[in-house]
Amino acid sequence: MPIDSKIESIITAIASDGFAIIPDFLPPAQIAALADEARQLQVAGEMRRAVTGSSNATTADNKMRGDFIHWLEDANASRVQKSYLQTMDTLREQLNLHFYLGLFELESHFAIYPTGAIYRKHLDQFQDKQHRQISCILYLNHAWQAEDGGQLRFYLNGRHEETYLDIEPIGSTLVVFLSDQFWHEVLPAKRQRISLTGWFRTRE
Ligand code: OGA
Ligand code: MN
Repeated sequence: MPIDSKIESIITAIASDGFAIIPDFLPPAQIAALADEARQLQVAGEMRRAVTGSSNATTADNKMRGDFIHWLEDANASRVQKSYLQTMDTLREQLNLHFYLGLFELESHFAIYPTGAIYRKHLDQFQDKQHRQISCILYLNHAWQAEDGGQLRFYLNGRHEETYLDIEPIGSTLVVFLSDQFWHEVLPAKRQRISLTGWFRTRE
């Protein structure tokens, strides 16, 4: 399926359900290159323990989340990061066109979850800051097996409050959702688990 059709199916799913799960979003070579970069950043000591909460109340707390992250910077993006950012910008334009969201930019980070690490149930919008509108999680894991665990437990809202989907972090699966609507958590995995997570935001 060409990338434009994939973006179109994201728009359709967001319109009807508020979330979209797209397998095989990017070519395998791009996913492998992004995963390599995340691992290289880790070796270089450029992945930092993630903190939770908004900037004026942050805590490094591996009981809440045990991942290590590295923020992408437009200014020194690698070739494969630029390609990811370009694709995401096309998605941003389409989201703005269809939903009048006024999405202004994407902030994204690599995340490496060591074996057994979790991210407890949370919403992606901070209570005191509402500018994160749409969350996008792209998985970078090669040959992920069901028994590896590490699912994204994704809680469905409305009448089905207590029902959830367990989404496997299979390489090139993209999950997109309205940031203020869906609670989610990361279950522990039996191997290292890598993702590239982005949030489209409005101006502060
Ligand atoms: C997050 C998050 C989920 C994942 O970074 O906010 O929920 O599967 N990540 O990496
Ligand atoms: Mn989240």
